[in-house]
Amino acid sequence: MPATTQTYLNAIANRRTIYDLTPKLPQNVSVEDIQAVVQAIIKNTPTALNSQENRAIIVTGKTHKKVWDAVINSIPGENGKKRPISARDEAYGCVIFFTEQNTIKKFQQDFPAAADAFPVAASHTTGAAQINSWTALETMGLGCHLQHYNDAVRAALGNLVPESWTVNSQLCFGSIVIPAGEKTFIDNPIKIYN
Ligand SMILES: Cc1cc2nc3c(=O)[nH]c(=O)nc-3n(C[C@H](O)[C@H](O)[C@H](O)COP(=O)(O)O)c2cc1C
Repeated sequence: MPATTQTYLNAIANRRTIYDLTPKLPQNVSVEDIQAVVQAIIKNTPTALNSQENRAIIVTGKTHKKVWDAVINSIPGENGKKRPISARDEAYGCVIFFTEQNTIKKFQQDFPAAADAFPVAASHTTGAAQINSWTALETMGLGCHLQHYNDAVRAALGNLVPESWTVNSQLCFGSIVIPAGEKTFIDNPIKIYN
């Protein structure tokens, strides 16, 4: 196997959910580095018919706190607040992923026979962008976990992003306090049929 392929596979295998974070960046990483990485991923992750509906922002500092405070306040009871409290206090920031809905509508109008396929494809491509970003951030030494407090996050962002951007997920990142534990796998062989 080419060394570059093995490097790619190692990055995929090393991407894990890491909840125990501290709100710092590794010494050699700036938020602009994270921005450049996410920018490249949003640009190069493919979309159906090159429709390019993926969007993302990075929130840190006061905006990060504001978003997670809104999530915390939207949840009744104490138990459900634990994860968003840890996201607010232990993550340095998060990448918020969106789908730009006017793009989907335009492609549905232009290609009516495939109208039902565009929202499905949009869901696939945002997932690809999210996991590409998650993997890339962990190659930079960051720890990440993926969250889906989409309605509360959307409400908290208000007009910071266009109305047509719907929220798909939040990739919380920070410095690793406790690495991910061991993961178990099912037996799931890829067979070749000739
Ligand atoms: C599509 C998707 C959605 C997920 N949603 C959440 C989530 O809402 N909250 C959360 O804490 N983890 C979430 N996770 C993390 C998974 O639970 C985690 O990836 C899985 O248990 C495998 O562990 P690993 O990430 O360490 O490989 C999500 C992961 C994926 C791929």
